[in-house]
Amino acid sequence: MQKSLNNPVAAVIEDFSNTLRFMARCGCKGYDPSERTYRILEDWASAKSGCRSETLEQIRNDLGDCRRCKLWKGRTNIVFGTGNPDAQLVFVGEGPGYDEDRQGEPFVGRAGQLLTKIIEAMKLSRDQIYICNVIKCRPPENRNPQPDEIKACFPFLKRQLDSISPDFICALGSVAANALLEKEVFISRVRGRFFDYKGIKVMPTYHPAYLLRNPVKKKDVWEDVQKIMKIMDP
Ligand code: URA
Repeated sequence: MQKSLNNPVAAVIEDFSNTLRFMARCGCKGYDPSERTYRILEDWASAKSGCRSETLEQIRNDLGDCRRCKLWKGRTNIVFGTGNPDAQLVFVGEGPGYDEDRQGEPFVGRAGQLLTKIIEAMKLSRDQIYICNVIKCRPPENRNPQPDEIKACFPFLKRQLDSISPDFICALGSVAANALLEKEVFISRVRGRFFDYKGIKVMPTYHPAYLLRNPVKKKDVWEDVQKIMKIMDP
């Protein structure tokens, strides 16, 4: 955690977090010393203390003309993300496909049109929510992102989520679910249940591209997003 000189609340929370780490090293018991505790404190210290850690624009500027992994060689555009920087709900996909790479926007191809329908069925619009991906450049032939590519790009997704500080994340498909749940999962086993990412409720569900191939699964996705709708602020 980085001490914020101009945010006294963040500084106090950071001191508290460091004290908890010290106590854990000394063998003190009676609290949860896992990384989750520190992540929640970090979240409070940034967005939740009323001071956004950094803006999406700053994160995009830092990403720059990214060459942190090999995918830069084949890309037309970096697909950073679009939507409301204060969204209550963020959809996280896998990575850009052909259309997204051409247009520089996430989910604008066939899978994107289906995602738009899902969003509209939730009585929301694309500009009320935020949409982004685990990786920001299109892999060749739309293959799955490789571990080194995810490793290079995931910190930017984390920063986007820290900046937006949504209440809900809908993880579309196993790549997004694996990254956010920080473990290898089968999407069919985890879908439909809420998980925690830094105090944010994560709902994994099927990827819209999978739904295009398996339309019978649409009803599962509808059930999953309804669980978000039920507890989301109107
Ligand atoms: N599939 C994704 O995972 N993301 C996109 O942006 C488009 C298709």
